[in-house]
Amino acid sequence: MTMSIAHLTRRFGATEVLRGIDLAVDKGELVALLGPSGSGKTTLLKIIAGLDWPDAGALTVDGEDWLAKRAQDRRIGFVFQHYALFPHMKVRDNIAFGLTVLPKAERPAPKQIAARVGELLHFLQIAPLGDRYPAELSGGQRQRVALGRALAVDPRILLLDEPFGALDAQVRRDLRRWLRGVHDAAGTTTIFVTHDQEEAFELADRVVVMGAGRIEQIGRPDEIYDHPATPFVARFLGLTVELPVTLRAGRAEAPGLDPSALPRRAMADGPATLFLRPTEITPVPDTTGPWRVAEAVSTGALLRLGLEGPADCRIEVEVPRRAGRGLTEGQTVRLRPEAGQIFPRQSNSDGASAPAAKPLSSVKESSL
Ligand SMILES: Nc1ncnc2c1ncn2[C@@H]1O[C@H](COP(=O)(O)OP(=O)(O)O)[C@@H](O)[C@H]1O
Ligand SMILES: [Mg+2]
Repeated sequence: MTMSIAHLTRRFGATEVLRGIDLAVDKGELVALLGPSGSGKTTLLKIIAGLDWPDAGALTVDGEDWLAKRAQDRRIGFVFQHYALFPHMKVRDNIAFGLTVLPKAERPAPKQIAARVGELLHFLQIAPLGDRYPAELSGGQRQRVALGRALAVDPRILLLDEPFGALDAQVRRDLRRWLRGVHDAAGTTTIFVTHDQEEAFELADRVVVMGAGRIEQIGRPDEIYDHPATPFVARFLGLTVELPVTLRAGRAEAPGLDPSALPRRAMADGPATLFLRPTEITPVPDTTGPWRVAEAVSTGALLRLGLEGPADCRIEVEVPRRAGRGLTEGQTVRLRPEAGQIFPRQSNSDGASAPAAKPLSSVKESSL
């Protein structure tokens, strides 16, 4: 099974929801579509499933034109966030459903269906739940059953749209590992939609980052984490500190910035923006400044510092609370970034300007 998507676009009225999607998925891969709400993930999944059609572009599976096929002829397994199991059917009948509605010629005999369901219950580690009704299950158990139902028909591709979105954090983490095991053991090809970075990175072989109907970056989780390709991906992955710098001979320069820990970049001289995570920058007390601690707030483990710098620039950084003892309000500092991504500064809205001052949200600690 190789799926190939080319130049796919989808419009609802004047809104372009998918703006030229190109993506290939190989047999046995687990690919995560990661992006904020509204970026077009569900629309793309529905088009693959045959529940929606694009305005232009191609979708082929092993060379076959899938846009010419109806949903029921594509052999897709689909699980949604709120998957409606049939409430009046026992778990085993829910799982069997897809097999019982196959055309007569393809439908297995009742005995074979029962055997297949028994196998799946065991495989999915829900064997004791076979005779329960959905109302007698936890949310996590229901999603396991939903996956069993999707797998029963031996799908060519498994599509999961935020399947764990409604569950609490610990159950989500358990189900993630369980799903990865099921995917590997079943040898399916899976596309998993999520807006949760950690979920995508932990589960997927490859992550596809989507923003506003476009693919911003495709890569292995570590690759994307270490090298976000665009300012959008950088911000989405939590590189929320944006420092205006000037690039000279591959080195970022700015008043009060010590760039010695940053590698040199093969980039043209000129105005640029250094993106980093709030924990990737160390404020070093320095009586000559030019940055000043405007606000210091403890979150328990961390000290969150609002720093004001040259040209009305304001950033928020975090240091371990114990390491930040000297960093009280009014203290002047210089900045030592430990990592970061540099992008040329653009004049359009995607470029980085100095972020506006915003109040810190946590409760102030009275003494450090
Ligand atoms: N049937 C529809 N009619 C009009 N707009 C839609 C329809 N379905 C989705 N949209 C719009 O398309 C955009 C992308 O939606 P969606 O694919 O659900 O994004 P995601 O799953 O990433 O949150 C949203 O702005 C949404 O409002
Ligand atoms: Mg969605």
